[in-house]
Amino acid sequence: MMRKYYIAGNWKMHKTVSESVALAKELAKELGPCGERVMVAPAFTALSAVAEALKGTNIVLGAQNMGPDLQGAHTGEVSPLMLKDLGVVAVILGHSERRHSYLETDALINKKVLLALAQGLEPILCVGETLEEREAGKLEAVVGTQVREGLKGVAASDLARVTIAYEPVWAIGTGKTATPEDADAVHAYIRVVLESLYGKPAAKAMCIQYGGSVKPDNAAELMAKPNIDGALVGGAALKAETFGPIVKFRS
Ligand code: 13P
Repeated sequence: MMRKYYIAGNWKMHKTVSESVALAKELAKELGPCGERVMVAPAFTALSAVAEALKGTNIVLGAQNMGPDLQGAHTGEVSPLMLKDLGVVAVILGHSERRHSYLETDALINKKVLLALAQGLEPILCVGETLEEREAGKLEAVVGTQVREGLKGVAASDLARVTIAYEPVWAIGTGKTATPEDADAVHAYIRVVLESLYGKPAAKAMCIQYGGSVKPDNAAELMAKPNIDGALVGGAALKAETFGPIVKFRS
């Protein structure tokens, strides 16, 4: 069977509502009924309009973050109920920008992962080491802890709805991509951690995306690696001319 990849676009803090709708429409036209699973995550403010623009397409709607509670006195937070109400299917959690700029901890991220799953959303749990941690030989300890702590309490029966995104912090927005070999080695290590938690078949079946300066000219060699099952794309996801060719990396 041909492998199906999961390619997601994280639009981060870019684009007004009309710019977001324009990109969503361009992508719908450009990608058509393609063989991969495609997700886009616009800003919260554009989710509703992008949901409308994506109706009838195969592109899945994602959010970039989510609050850790269902509702209540949590100024500035967005609950999974609100996301579902707009047609959101997937949610990016624990992105390195949330971990580093907003000091999100593994415990908070884990709370969000469990809540997303309980609410029927599909979390993408982001993990990744800084350059300092890599150079200090702590890569496996850091990534292993982020995976273990992020998935704490996740039932084996829910694992298939979780995606892991390995995003080395030093490769995000820097133009420095991990070599396909380096990325694949970390993905393989993540599978070892998953195997220790959930057994071999579940670890093998898990979708692990790579993120960090994925571009049209490096997507195919990354996707060719046995442990890389998709991509979480930042900068190159902001234009149909660059996101389109990444999704269509096979052609
Ligand atoms: P870039 O593709 O801009 O490096 O961003 C990667 C990322 O953080 C996706 O979540």
